[in-house]
Amino acid sequence: MKALITSGGRGTRLRPITHTKNKHLIPIANKPILHYAIDYLRDAGITDIGVVYSADSREVPDRLGDGSQFGVSLTHIPQEAPLGLAHVVKISQSFIGAEPFVFYLGDNMVVGGIQRFVDAFQAAGSNCHLTLAKVKDPERFGVPELDGDRIVGIEEKPTHPKSKYAVAGIYLYDSSIFEACHAIEPSARGELEISDAHQWLLTNGRQVTYSEITGWWKDTGKPIDLLEANRLVLEHLPAQQDGYVDPKSALFGNVVVEEGAEVINSVIRGPAIIGKRTKVTDSYVGPFTSIYHDCTVRGSEIEYSIVLAGCQILDVHTRIEGSLLGDEVELVRAADKPRVNRFMLSDQSRVEIV
Ligand code: G1P
Repeated sequence: MKALITSGGRGTRLRPITHTKNKHLIPIANKPILHYAIDYLRDAGITDIGVVYSADSREVPDRLGDGSQFGVSLTHIPQEAPLGLAHVVKISQSFIGAEPFVFYLGDNMVVGGIQRFVDAFQAAGSNCHLTLAKVKDPERFGVPELDGDRIVGIEEKPTHPKSKYAVAGIYLYDSSIFEACHAIEPSARGELEISDAHQWLLTNGRQVTYSEITGWWKDTGKPIDLLEANRLVLEHLPAQQDGYVDPKSALFGNVVVEEGAEVINSVIRGPAIIGKRTKVTDSYVGPFTSIYHDCTVRGSEIEYSIVLAGCQILDVHTRIEGSLLGDEVELVRAADKPRVNRFMLSDQSRVEIV
């Protein structure tokens, strides 16, 4: 079995972070979103993986390399224009050949890996196996129509959804999906929709089965939604201490202190992760916080937040909560007089102050 991962898209809903970083490379619990897909595929025994990237940027292929760092073999496949997910499948046909494969949308996160879906697909012996998750807003997704436990129809972003399920971005196929992707026409938004390919399979008598999943997440619009993905993953992360924690500090719950990190005279209430070479001094780090590598947190309090590489949070006397800081952001205490807030923000930044 092979696999195909998507890594394109402009990530407009996650600006300003995505002005300088592909959204698939944003770390969740200190691991880039895309790495979860690769690790889960490898853990399910799938090591021959194609990664489809937007031809206008080499960021993803450059960062992932040939896959040896993950114990897999990666083939990078450029997509010239964002013409839809069924188009991604189409242009990858020569890489996939006649083998069954997993199609994994790289911005989807699922807790607990994908082995169970591979097993269910193989047990069913179907042409296509979908993963369905119950959601509050099915109209934003591909939506199945169910008759008992059978899928009888699929619609893309319907105004009147026929069920409460979304089709999640992890699909398992045999080669009949290529026939479907060649047969369909672009939708009103000019894309070859993967849901139309699924509907084609149903209309043409192919067998479409599914697994219901929980613990699924996909970015839903606001940057703050990344914090929910972070919470989901941190909740399942076992404690591990590879860095230094001085005797005056206290760690509660599941806390990961990565190699080279230092925690001095501080309280960390997990689940939380402190990245490599990051120094936390005289501070409080609360639940659901991921602080990435090479940061300094001094004399400050922070919780339910994601902090990316090389940030400085120094003597900030208001607790920071629900925040997402990009690379090398500085949050520092202003000089005592005059008492002012002073900002230097990039395009589309957002600040909330009390
Ligand atoms: C795409 C698919 C949609 C699916 C979703 C899952 O939507 O078209 O059917 O439910 O991924 O992530 P998009 O992210 O392109 O809006």
